[in-house]
Amino acid sequence: MKRGYVEDRAYRSTGPPHSKPKLTHDADDDHTRDVTQKVAEHYSARANRTLEEREASPIIHLKKLNNWIKSVLIQLYARPGDAVLDLACGKGGDLIKWDKARVGYYVGIDIAEGSIEDCRTRYNGETDQHMRRKRFSFPARLFCGDCFEARLDKILADDSPFDICSCQFALHYSWSTEARARRALENVSALLRPGGTFIGTMPDANVIVKKLREAEGLKFGNDVYWINFEETFTQKKFPSSCPFGIKYQFHLEDAVDCPEWIVPFHVFKSLAEEYDLELIFVKNFHEFVDDFLKRPEFVELMRRLGALGDSIQDRSTLSPVEWEAAYLYLAFVLRKRGHSDPSARNSRASRGQTQISTSDIMYL
Ligand SMILES: C[S@@+](CC[C@H](N)C(=O)[O-])C[C@H]1O[C@@H](n2cnc3c(N)ncnc32)[C@H](O)[C@@H]1O
Repeated sequence: MKRGYVEDRAYRSTGPPHSKPKLTHDADDDHTRDVTQKVAEHYSARANRTLEEREASPIIHLKKLNNWIKSVLIQLYARPGDAVLDLACGKGGDLIKWDKARVGYYVGIDIAEGSIEDCRTRYNGETDQHMRRKRFSFPARLFCGDCFEARLDKILADDSPFDICSCQFALHYSWSTEARARRALENVSALLRPGGTFIGTMPDANVIVKKLREAEGLKFGNDVYWINFEETFTQKKFPSSCPFGIKYQFHLEDAVDCPEWIVPFHVFKSLAEEYDLELIFVKNFHEFVDDFLKRPEFVELMRRLGALGDSIQDRSTLSPVEWEAAYLYLAFVLRKRGHSDPSARNSRASRGQTQISTSDIMYL
């Protein structure tokens, strides 16, 4: 079922544009604000599911595969005692993964108020399915706001530096304008300690553009997802001089239905370098599965999470359409230049709490 990772050359260029973030206000800003609001409302409205409802999802195995990929990234790069910054943390779906990595402090930020509230109750162990769970062992703080707009270095001055920053399935929401893409990377760079790690997952622009070009029109997909580009892109050409604001509508059954932006990876890599973030690796999800399923500890993790069934009782597995949808994504790891001693931790963890009330949530 595995497919090779096709590197599309559509985006080859010498690097990102070097103009600095625009400081004036214009129609583009209003448009970006409207679309960002739409994204926030979409995620805010997504209700928490019961275990039974989640198991009935048509993309349950894809969700489990995504969790496996995030778990592998966390197990590879998080160390006991680490301070974690989870950008676009959503409903806190990764809290258990961080707990297993025995991290020391957690800060989560998300633009969707409903998701942050779910994250709060999940952290407190108040949601039904988590009632039986022991309390998380690390103190935490939660923020609600746009982490690709706000300057987080000031807001989180007393919580930083972080040892690891994670942005899962969300960085592409920063790619609506150059200013937002830069702000995202500037925030990560400013808050990570030298030598700290930035892990993430996002749509793979090479795959999306390749599929668009293979499609008859501007829409393509399968039973579980579709992607629709606007008429502006009828030519299916994306000049390297305009790598931001390439918008499409993304629908993933039982998960996502909102506007997203293409992130040409080579532009992302060059821009990240400007902010002292160096690429360690990037892998399309197909390649990621192929590489890390060679390691026994991750095979066992895959069996436990059940993305491919447990091969004993549960013979259900990822369907071909889910596997095709997985091909739309990539995982990346970047490292902040320089070195610092991770054991020389400051007292930031004392800022966090082990029980978070609604009024503890900070609004950016
Ligand atoms: C697909 S969900 C992923 C959530 C979580 N990272 C996970 O892996 O389970 C995308 C998340 O990005 C958040 N998001 C989108 N734009 C954002 C922004 N500008 N600032 C903060 N969060 C944002 C959404 O609210 C949503 O929770």
